[in-house]
Amino acid sequence: MVKEKQLRVIAIDGPAASGKSTIGYILAKKLGFLLLDTGCMYRAATLAALQAGVAVEDETAVTELAHSIDIDVQPPAGEGDGRQYTTLLNGQDVTWELRSPEVDAHVSLVSSYAGVRQEMVQRQRLFGLRGSVVMVGRDIGTVVMPDAPLKLYITATAEERARRRWRDRNQQGHNNNYEAILADVQRRDQFDSSRKHSPLRPADDAIVIDTSDLTPDEIVAEILVLVNGRLPRPT
Ligand code: DC
Repeated sequence: MVKEKQLRVIAIDGPAASGKSTIGYILAKKLGFLLLDTGCMYRAATLAALQAGVAVEDETAVTELAHSIDIDVQPPAGEGDGRQYTTLLNGQDVTWELRSPEVDAHVSLVSSYAGVRQEMVQRQRLFGLRGSVVMVGRDIGTVVMPDAPLKLYITATAEERARRRWRDRNQQGHNNNYEAILADVQRRDQFDSSRKHSPLRPADDAIVIDTSDLTPDEIVAEILVLVNGRLPRPT
């Protein structure tokens, strides 16, 4: 078992569409680290409930289901469809289904359930012990990996984040309305930061980066400077 203080984990947290996943992806690729975007696990639990016809408002049933599903996150295997990683739910590739508006609409509620979080956090910690990992989420620096040697909190204005999401949705061919997306971003910010369990907030020792006026490559260059000297050598 790897001792906590030898963790080679970069924790990246931040609100929806702040650019944290893109940054985590580029960073992991440059450093040769594994990538775990933990949002996909809450999305997988949500999709599992929708597929099984379990009401997302039924906390007990959703929690039970979240314990029973198999979720695997792997590097892309040359699919060439722009994915940053592949998510398997009970062995099925659900990478793109996890991004559907239906999952978007229900994932905040599912991720607010204490029993769902407990289970996912446990799985995320195990992943963190696999070696060198960039882990992206909302509570990585505060709850999942509080001993990570480098914690980043990536943010941007709600308007900029809504613009980015609008662009991504357009590219994926989904129906789109900027005002509705902005309202959804604001609603999720409010929900995620005021929820009872693990609300979204920067860890006390996190470095806060505003991405509103910077490109992902500029931000990654800044982060690479921070990485040097902070992470223990590989064993
Ligand atoms: O980052 P994302 O949009 O894929 O996250 C989906 C949802 O999961 C979002 O409502 C916040 C929640 N989430 C969470 O509560 N904790 C995490 N570590 C990651 C995501």
